[in-house]
Amino acid sequence: MTIHIGAAKEDIAETVLLPGDPYRAKWAAETFLSDVRLVNEVRGMLGFTGTWKGHRVTIQGSGMGMPSLSIYVNELIRDFDAQTLIRIGSCGAMQDKIKLRDVIVAMTASTLSTPSRGIFKELNFAPCADWALLRAAVNAAEAKGSTPHVGGIYSSDVFYDERPDLNEQMVRHGILGVEMEAAELYNLAARHRRRALAVLTVSDHLITGEALPSDQRERSFAEMVEIALEAAFS
Ligand code: HPA
Repeated sequence: MTIHIGAAKEDIAETVLLPGDPYRAKWAAETFLSDVRLVNEVRGMLGFTGTWKGHRVTIQGSGMGMPSLSIYVNELIRDFDAQTLIRIGSCGAMQDKIKLRDVIVAMTASTLSTPSRGIFKELNFAPCADWALLRAAVNAAEAKGSTPHVGGIYSSDVFYDERPDLNEQMVRHGILGVEMEAAELYNLAARHRRRALAVLTVSDHLITGEALPSDQRERSFAEMVEIALEAAFS
């Protein structure tokens, strides 16, 4: 047990999927896993462990933003020995060619700052995905007939961003989408030599202003969960 995860060590699998929303964790566990057990409910940040095609998997909510994700991922790595950590979440598209419901696989994650700023200081560390996981996710997506966008994303600290100039620079530099967690996941995985990836579904579009209605979010989320599970065990 840790401060934020009230599970026994053996309750957490080596492979952990991390949606931001704890109710998404519940939905994904109930939809895709067998023999599902609730393993964490501290602060309502639900975590479930079950099996997928015979492999043990934990699906643990990470909360919104890098400070929250950092708490869960630090504890999952240091105390529960998680080896493979895949964020499954939503993002806002930043390029015209990207459409609502498209899947983005994040090769890198740019930021203004992360909880790791204190150790990197003036260094602009480049947080990147695990290559084998990234390749496996792209293969899994293509096998489903979907064509994921693969490239850099932007992990922002603010949802209600009052600095449109920064988003403009991200768009100009080909960044595919904006979310709020992946960069610190990649930092922590690099530090502790674990495998990490972020697979994202486009829920809104920063250029067109479109957004997915809530009833359609769930269905597009399903494809991403399947891609993450296939990638983890390929
Ligand atoms: N901004 C930041 N995070 C997000 C967004 C967004 O537009 N959409 C989904 N996560």
